[in-house]
Amino acid sequence: MRTREAILPDAQRIYDLIAAYSADGTLLPRSLAEICENVRDFLVLEEGDEIIGCGALHLYGTHLAEIRSITVSPLYQGCAGGKRLVKALLTQAKKHGVSCICLFTRIPEFFARMGFAMAQREDLPDKIHKDCFSCPRLHCCDEVAMVRGEIPKFAILPEPPTSWLVKLQA
Ligand SMILES: CC(C)(COP(=O)(O)OP(=O)(O)OC[C@H]1O[C@@H](n2cnc3c(N)ncnc32)[C@H](O)[C@@H]1OP(=O)(O)O)[C@@H](O)C(=O)NCCC(=O)NCCS
Repeated sequence: MRTREAILPDAQRIYDLIAAYSADGTLLPRSLAEICENVRDFLVLEEGDEIIGCGALHLYGTHLAEIRSITVSPLYQGCAGGKRLVKALLTQAKKHGVSCICLFTRIPEFFARMGFAMAQREDLPDKIHKDCFSCPRLHCCDEVAMVRGEIPKFAILPEPPTSWLVKLQA
């Protein structure tokens, strides 16, 4: 088993791996278009020629990155592939000089084994703005926030659309 950076021809397989766990809310659904656009965030896990898992690292800035969409095909679970993916994503975060890696999960025990600790979701405004405000489970979320590293002291939030500014200035 080994990990490598994903390339565009892997996008459909990544989509299928994620879709298998998004119907029940285990993973956030990702469209094929979104995966293609962000394919450089992804690592794939291979056994021989077969892609058997994937995971992504979304960069918010050097203060924060997020591990997302991590999954291993059921046939290969329990063979240390998940751990291998997390370690490889942590290596990428280190390469980018990121000081805090976060994730939201229903299986904190798995990530606690790799040095993640529980956090308050309010400590991660970048993530809240990216996903939570548009999530149907905003007020009934059953995931826990976890971090590895130093809780960020600031956030980099999207600029409001120019049309808002025009309205505010009018
Ligand atoms: C979670 C998942 C990626 C783990 O992958 P895996 O290859 O089966 O895990 P590994 O074999 O690398 O397990 C590493 C360690 O974590 C433990 N572990 C695995 N799954 C676990 C779970 N659900 N809860 C707690 N511990 C778990 C293993 O026992 C192992 O412990 P060890 O190091 O003491 O031997 C995989 O089960 C999966 O794809 N699940 C469905 C999607 C999902 O839940 N993704 C996470 C969303 S945040």
